[in-house]
Amino acid sequence: MTIFLGIDIGTSGTKTLLINERGKILSEANAGYPLHHPKPLWSEQDPEDWWQATVRTVREAVKKARVKPADVKAIGLSGQMHGSVFLDKKGKVVRRALLWNDQRTAAECEEIEKRTGGRRKLIKMVANPALTGFTAPKILWLRNNEPKNFDKTKSVLLPKDDVRRRLTGEFATDVSDASGMLLLDVARRDWSKTLLSKLELDRDLFATCYESEEVTGKLTADAAKKLGLTTDCVVVGGAGDCAAGAVGTGVVKSGVLSSSIGTSGVMFVHSDKVEIDPEGRLHTFCHAVRGKWHMMGVSLTAGGSLQWFTEQLCAEFSKAKADPYEILNREAAKIAAGSEGLFFLPYLAGERTPHADPDARGCFVGLTLKHTRGHLVRAIMEGVTYAMRDSLAIIQQMGVPVRQVRASGGGAKSQLWRQMQADVFGKKVVTINAEQGPAYGVALLAAVGAGAYKNVEEACNATIRVTSETAPDRKTKQAYDKHFPIYQELYLSLKSGFKSIGNLD
Ligand code: XUL
Repeated sequence: MTIFLGIDIGTSGTKTLLINERGKILSEANAGYPLHHPKPLWSEQDPEDWWQATVRTVREAVKKARVKPADVKAIGLSGQMHGSVFLDKKGKVVRRALLWNDQRTAAECEEIEKRTGGRRKLIKMVANPALTGFTAPKILWLRNNEPKNFDKTKSVLLPKDDVRRRLTGEFATDVSDASGMLLLDVARRDWSKTLLSKLELDRDLFATCYESEEVTGKLTADAAKKLGLTTDCVVVGGAGDCAAGAVGTGVVKSGVLSSSIGTSGVMFVHSDKVEIDPEGRLHTFCHAVRGKWHMMGVSLTAGGSLQWFTEQLCAEFSKAKADPYEILNREAAKIAAGSEGLFFLPYLAGERTPHADPDARGCFVGLTLKHTRGHLVRAIMEGVTYAMRDSLAIIQQMGVPVRQVRASGGGAKSQLWRQMQADVFGKKVVTINAEQGPAYGVALLAAVGAGAYKNVEEACNATIRVTSETAPDRKTKQAYDKHFPIYQELYLSLKSGFKSIGNLD
C-alpha cells in the first residue's frame, strides 16, 4: 500500500487525513487549540499547540486507518497563512505567533509604503499592497515594539513551516504561502531582494522557497518516533490553506472559482499568468500549481462570525448537547431572503477585501422589535455572503471568467448557505466529492511529490468530481440584487464612525 498524509494547521484546530494512491480518504483526525486576544484587535497562537496537535492527529489518523507506518510515503503541509513564528538561534520560539487576522500593524504598513516609495512601487515589487494581516508588517512591528525580541530573532517561519522544521529539521517554505509574507517577488517565485533591502531585513531570516509538490526533506529520527512513522517518509512543500483548498477542490484551471467559508471567507480563482488588480484590492499570489498564479479576496470573519454568535449567545445549546449550527440553520431557513430589512456587516476583526480597513467593526443594522434570533442568524449568513460577493465583483471587473463556483469549508455543509451563495452570486454553486479542502489538497500534493501522479492537474482530474449542483432561484436572486447595494452603502456611511471608535482604544 502507498499512503499519503495531509496536515492542515488551521486557526481553530489541526486536521490530519490519510489517502491512498487513488485519493480515497482512509481516516481523519482533528484537534483544537485556543486563540488568544490579548487586546481587542490582536490575535495570537502558541506554535507549541500546533506541534502537539500535529503529533496527536497523525498518531490517531494512522491508528484509525490501520496502515503500516512504512506505507506512509509522503506528507503535505497546509496551514493558516501570514502568521509569524519568531525563532531564536537555538530554534526556541521567542514570543507567541501573530496571526493572519491580527490588526495591530497599521503603522508598519505605512512604514513599508514609505520605505518603498509608495503603494504602486510596492505592488510592482511583490504584486500586493501592505495589508495589516501580512507577515512583513508583523516583523517590523516586532522590531518597532519589542526590540529585545527582535534582536533575539534569527528566523521567521509561517505556521505550517514551523511544523515542518520540527518534522524534518529543514527551514523551508512553498511559493504559495511565501507570497502572503509580502516579501516574495511573486512573478519570479523567489524572495524580493529589493524589498528585503528597503526594509533592512536580512535574507537569512527566511526559509528556502520550494514549489508546492517538491520534496523539502525527510522525517528526522526523533519526529518519526513521535509520529509513529519512518524516516523514509518525505515532506513536500505544501501550500497556504487557500491554495491548498483550491487544489483540494480541483480549482487548478481557468473558469472555476472556489468559494470557501471557514473562519475566513475566501474567493479564489486560478490564473495562467500574473494578473494584478491595480488598486490592490485582490491578492495575487503564486498557486500551488507549478508556474501558475491565483487571485483571491479574503473576508476575515466569515464562518468566524457565526462561530462568535454561537459561542457568545447560544451557550445553552452546548448544555443540551445539540449541534448549535443545525438549530440555528433551521431557525434561519424560516426567515425570508433579506431578513426583513436586517443587515449584518461581518467586520468583527476589521476587514481585508475590499476595504483593507483594520478599524472596520461588526454590526447589525436595521434591528426592529419584530426581529428574532432566526433573523439575526440569517442576516449573519447573508452579510458574509455579500462580503464574498464584493470579491466576486472585483474578479469579474478584471474580466476573469467565472463559469462555476465550487463551495467548500464549513459553510458548504449547509444547504441553506449553498442556496444563498447561488442566489447572492447569481451563479451555479457545486459541491465536490472531497469536502476536506486544504488537508485533502496537500495530501494530493504529497502524492504528486512521491510520483503517484505526473502533476497536480492529473491528481485533481483523477480524484475530484462534482457531486451536487445548486442553481440560483430567479426571484431570490432579484431580492438579493436589491439588498447588495444597501449592504455596500452601509460600510461607506459607517466608515468614519469606525475610525472614531478605533481612536477610542
Ligand atoms: C488568507 C488568509 C486566511 C487564512 C485563514 O489570505 O488570511 O484565509 O489563511 O486560514
